[in-house]
Amino acid sequence: MSHRNAPLVGFGNHHATEAVAGALPIGRNSPQRVPFGLYAEQLSGTAFTAPRHDNRRSWLYRLLPSAAHGRYEPYSGGSLIRSGPFDEVPASPNRLRWNPPGLPGAATDFVDGLVTYAGNGDPASGHGCAIHLYAANLAMTDRAFFSADGELLIVPQHGALRIVTEMGILDVAPLEIAVIPRGLRFRVELPDGTARGYVCENYGASLRLPDLGPIGSNGLANPRDFEAPHAAYEDREGDYQLIQKFQGRLYATRLDHSPFDVVAWHGNLAPVRYDLRRFNTINTVSFDHPDPSIFTVLTSPSDTPGTANIDFVIFPPRWMVAEDTFRPPWFHRNVMSEFMGLIHGTYDAKAGGFAPGGGSLHNCMSSHGPDASSYENAVTAELTPHYLADTMAFMFESRHPIRPTRWAMETELLQDDYDACWSGFRKAQLPTQAGEDQR
Ligand SMILES: [Fe+2]
Repeated sequence: MSHRNAPLVGFGNHHATEAVAGALPIGRNSPQRVPFGLYAEQLSGTAFTAPRHDNRRSWLYRLLPSAAHGRYEPYSGGSLIRSGPFDEVPASPNRLRWNPPGLPGAATDFVDGLVTYAGNGDPASGHGCAIHLYAANLAMTDRAFFSADGELLIVPQHGALRIVTEMGILDVAPLEIAVIPRGLRFRVELPDGTARGYVCENYGASLRLPDLGPIGSNGLANPRDFEAPHAAYEDREGDYQLIQKFQGRLYATRLDHSPFDVVAWHGNLAPVRYDLRRFNTINTVSFDHPDPSIFTVLTSPSDTPGTANIDFVIFPPRWMVAEDTFRPPWFHRNVMSEFMGLIHGTYDAKAGGFAPGGGSLHNCMSSHGPDASSYENAVTAELTPHYLADTMAFMFESRHPIRPTRWAMETELLQDDYDACWSGFRKAQLPTQAGEDQR
C-alpha cells in the first residue's frame, strides 16, 4: 500500500492507492460488494487483448459511476481547437516559425484557451497527433474535460498547473511535463494565476519510454522518475459541467456531483508527471553530434519499427565536449517532420527569433539547421568543454507531415521573415587550380 509521503513511482508500474483506509478491494477487482458501497469501474487504455507488455488499464473505485450523466450537447467554447484530418488549408512547404502567444485578455481557462497550431493523422484512424498551445488566466472550477481522441502530453512553459484528475492531483511546473491518459477526466487550476504551454494530443499508441539499445539498462528518462498521484477525491454535490472532445468536436453535459470522486484505484494506466531536469542526457565524448534521437524522452510507436507516430525529444542543458566537431544541431533534411517549442532560455541552433513559448515547424524534407550567425560562431569557437546551461527546447517529431491549421497560417504570430535566418552564408571557396574549367 502506498503512503502519502512517498510518490507512486515508475513508468507504467502497477500502483495501488486509497484515500480512505479500506476502500481498495483486496485480491479481486470487482467484488460483489465493494467497500463502503463504492462503484468499481475499469478504465481501459489498450484493447483487452493487447500484449501484456503493452496492456494498460486501471480499476477505479468511486462514489458514483462515471456513467451517471445526461446527454452530451455541442459545446461552443474552445473555438480554436482543431482535429485531424487537418485539411483546412494546404500543408505549406515552407519552414514556419511563430512568436509566443500573449496571455488572454478576457477570462479564459485551460480548455477555452487551447489553440491548435497543427497536426496529422486523425482520431478515427488512431494515428497522428494534434499540437495545441494553451494560454489561460482562469482556473477551471466546476467543470472538467477529457479527450476521447487521444492522450495529452502537457508541456508547461509559463506558470504552474495543478491538474486535478479522477486519479489524483498532479502539480506540474515549467520544466516538468504531464501525460494524461485518453478519457481521463481532469480540470486545470492555475497556482500562478496565468499559464501558457504546449499540448501534444496523441491519437496513436500511448507514449512509452524508448528502447535503449546499446545504451543499456539505464539512461535518458529513467522509469522511476515518472510519478503518478495518490488517490484523492471530492465528495461534493452541485452543478458540474463535463466537456469531452470526441472525433474532433467538443460536447458538454451536466453532472450533479463532482466527477472527481475516485476514492481508490489500482492499475498501470495513470496520469504521470516527469521532471525534465532528471533526464539523463547522453551525448558524444569523442566527436560528431549524434542524431537527436539520443534526447528522446517518450515515444509513441507506429506499426513500423523505429518510425514513430510521435517522439517527444528535449534539448536540455548539457556539456558540449566533442572534439573537431560542429557542435550545434547540423544542417538537416528529414523524412520525419519536426515541430519545436522552447520552454526556457535559447536554442543552440538559433541565436534569435525563437523565443520561449514560440514554435517552429520543419516538415518532411524541408531544409533546416543553424542560422548564419549561430553557424559562424560554431565554426570559429574554441572547442573547450562548454556547459550549455540556459536552455530547454523540445520537439514533437512525427513520421507524418505536420499540417498547420488555418489559424496558424493566418495569425500575426507567424513570422514572415523566417527564411532570412538562412541567408548570409558565405559560399565555400574551392582552391583555384591552373587549367580549371571556369564555365
Ligand atoms: Fe532536424
